[in-house]
Amino acid sequence: MARKILVTGACSQLGWVVEALLKQREDTEVVALPQAELDILDGELVDATVERLRPATIINCAGFNDVEAAEHRLATKLPVNTRGLCNLARASAKFKVYLCSFSSKYVFNGKNSEPYGEDDDKWPLNQYGNSKHGGEEMVDNLIDNYLIVRSDLLYGAGGNDWVSRIKEELGAGRPLAVSNDFFIAPTYIGDLAAAMVALSTEWAAGIYHYTNDAGNGVSCYEFARAVAEQAGLDITLLQPKPMTEIDFGGPLNLPERAILKLDRFKEMFPLLVRPWREALAAYMAEAS
Ligand SMILES: NC(=O)c1ccc[n+]([C@@H]2O[C@H](COP(=O)([O-])OP(=O)(O)OC[C@H]3O[C@@H](n4cnc5c(N)ncnc54)[C@H](OP(=O)(O)O)[C@@H]3O)[C@@H](O)[C@H]2O)c1
Repeated sequence: MARKILVTGACSQLGWVVEALLKQREDTEVVALPQAELDILDGELVDATVERLRPATIINCAGFNDVEAAEHRLATKLPVNTRGLCNLARASAKFKVYLCSFSSKYVFNGKNSEPYGEDDDKWPLNQYGNSKHGGEEMVDNLIDNYLIVRSDLLYGAGGNDWVSRIKEELGAGRPLAVSNDFFIAPTYIGDLAAAMVALSTEWAAGIYHYTNDAGNGVSCYEFARAVAEQAGLDITLLQPKPMTEIDFGGPLNLPERAILKLDRFKEMFPLLVRPWREALAAYMAEAS
């Protein structure tokens, strides 16, 4: 019998790709619901939907992840990361569903010189990080059978991501200030979605880290430079700056080097981890 998987937040960058990957599997039946059909903040609707559909698995792709906006203007959007996830966890406990969701490196404070393991101390520095940490804790308190995959900066949705912004600004000849002291493991959305599908297919439990492999991290400037080089754009328009000189619309604490250790994931799927430059080149070739 096909395994029924409910994808929530189906119109997110990740939702589209997760749904498409699942639909390629003959052993899987996918029901993908956007916010308009399932608002996960509505606990009664979540319960009724799970009771009606009886999925074996929920892969939650809903969330709010604009770190700057969450800090200064749109903190009211954050409950989807906490209360929304909590509603899914309650329904999953009630109807014995395996719940899978995404979290973020922002649960860490970025002060470690080495990459963070899944069980290292959490210490979020901003509202977004607090919401992701809160969501993780709620799930852990409510349900045993869950999978949370933490990741880093995503690109590859086209139009709406940082790679597109870099291409747009430089393509129009506009200078772009980019931090040279904020370190990331940039990750292609298609790779993260494939990692989630692989882990959930194996009913992996607990927390896993997944990013493209960036060693101990690359600066945003280095990443932007790689994008510009691969797109044949003028790299001199990139202005490397310390975070303190970047305009985030107000004060914002960021974890300067919160790089995620990948060992737990690599033990299961070593072939699904590739270097960040290789993933970026593959995406740029595909998108051009
Ligand atoms: N983007 C990143 O760099 C990044 C990095 C690490 C982890 N993550 C995590 O990955 C997950 C998905 O991120 P993403 O970038 O793919 O998201 P996204 O493209 O920003 O989309 C978020 C989606 O959540 C939906 N949503 C918001 N509130 C909802 C609600 N109450 N009920 C149901 N759906 C709701 C939105 O619906 P509408 O389309 O109707 O607005 C939207 O489709 C999030 O948990 C995020 O924290 C993202």
